[in-house]
Amino acid sequence: MQKATVTAVRSAEMIGEQVCVQGWVRTRRDSKGGFSFIEVNDGTCMGNIQVIADADLANYESEITKLTAGCSVSIDGEVKQSGGKQPTEIHAQSVNVVGWSDPETFPLQKKRHSFEKLREWAHLRPRTNTFGAVARVRNSICLSIHDFFQEDGFLYVHTPIITASDCEGAGEMFRVTTLELEKLPGAKGGIDYSFDFFDRPSYLTVSGQLEAEIYATALGKVYTFGPTFRAENSNTSRHLAEFWMVEPEMAFCDLQDNMDLAERLLKRIVSDALQRCPEDMDFFDQRIDKTVKETIDQVLDGEFVRLSYTEAIAELEKSDKEFEFPISWGTDLQSEHERYLTEDRFAGPVILYDYPRTIKPFYMRVNDDEKTVAAMDVLVPRVGEIIGGSQREERLEVLEGRMADQQLQSEDYWWYLDLRRYGTVPHSGFGLGLERMVQFVTGMSNIRDVIPFPRTPGNAEF
Ligand code: 4AD
Ligand code: MG
Repeated sequence: MQKATVTAVRSAEMIGEQVCVQGWVRTRRDSKGGFSFIEVNDGTCMGNIQVIADADLANYESEITKLTAGCSVSIDGEVKQSGGKQPTEIHAQSVNVVGWSDPETFPLQKKRHSFEKLREWAHLRPRTNTFGAVARVRNSICLSIHDFFQEDGFLYVHTPIITASDCEGAGEMFRVTTLELEKLPGAKGGIDYSFDFFDRPSYLTVSGQLEAEIYATALGKVYTFGPTFRAENSNTSRHLAEFWMVEPEMAFCDLQDNMDLAERLLKRIVSDALQRCPEDMDFFDQRIDKTVKETIDQVLDGEFVRLSYTEAIAELEKSDKEFEFPISWGTDLQSEHERYLTEDRFAGPVILYDYPRTIKPFYMRVNDDEKTVAAMDVLVPRVGEIIGGSQREERLEVLEGRMADQQLQSEDYWWYLDLRRYGTVPHSGFGLGLERMVQFVTGMSNIRDVIPFPRTPGNAEF
């Protein structure tokens, strides 16, 4: 028998077809008329297919009437027009129970569980409507990212996950070592790294940017897309210790071009999600956050507000909103400030640019005023900072000066400096946090619920 997905058999075009559908039982209801309704979901879409199993099936009494939530089944039958809400249903010729699920212990019962509780069952939560929808939307976003860059002539490069350099200079790196922590060689005055695997202190990368710059200054337009790691001890709804980031990097490109690209990318991702996952997006809008579609429309309609950091500080200072953290020129924006700008003041995405040099990493290009750098952050309602990027410092002496300011050893970055010695060019790029993008599109309020297996301080289960 021809295998078919639940998505396929829910379409009226399939009426009259003989199919085999395989999935997991959501509910079973027995009718007095001598048959049962089984709702089956296979994860290809939010909706279930209703299967009608007649009492004259051989295993009706022995098995079908014992089916409960979580059982896996393989059903052969005919797709028929349905009298219910869905256009179709399946009239089963056979219902084969592939795996039983003990109703006494299976955690996903009919009642709704909190997202906190479901995090403890991260191995089962993809079987719920919400987490199935998140997984499908996350997949759509990744597809859009690759489509967008590939169609635009970007080359996908794989940057290393293990590195010896701290791109963001924030010291929030996880160590990678084969040394035995209990028996560190030369432990008295410090550790002798010549005994370690890489011969030097090594870490999990916080960003693929520095290596992406190498490829951009040879191949023009590139992007890297992979996992990144930050050992910052922040227990917030927007921070993970392991998250995915897409980082385009472009030669012969200034901050304006960079902002234009960021805006186009966000517009593409959200419009694809609406088009590819309409059923999931309706669910998020109706059940998770009633502002989801409205804020997506703010991304699609019109141009993003572009505001210098200095102008943003002025906006924040003149607002009559009470902020928990005071703000003044030279301090970094907190989430509450980002939300004020995007939700109250401008009601839509805002790109902030030209930040004080003192609060930004060494690689950002120093502006003529010497006080600011050509940085840009894209802020969106509900999530706040979703993209961080900049034009890069392409002038060797200025870059060396910035590294010295931030106590970075130029020997460690000799290859990065070489890019400025040999055919240097203005270039720019940014990083989009995948999970924050999924949060924005779905309206899920906690970042731990938009990645399959969240890694946060104290959590590495699964
Ligand atoms: O602003 P960030 O730190 O920028 C960079 O890493 C640059 N090297 C990117 C570049 O220019 N190529 O991080 C970029 C984005 C943030 O805007 C945010 O969306 C996300 O990555 N991000 C996090 N997401 C989840 N958990 C964390 N701990 C994150 N830190 C950053
Ligand atoms: Mg940032």
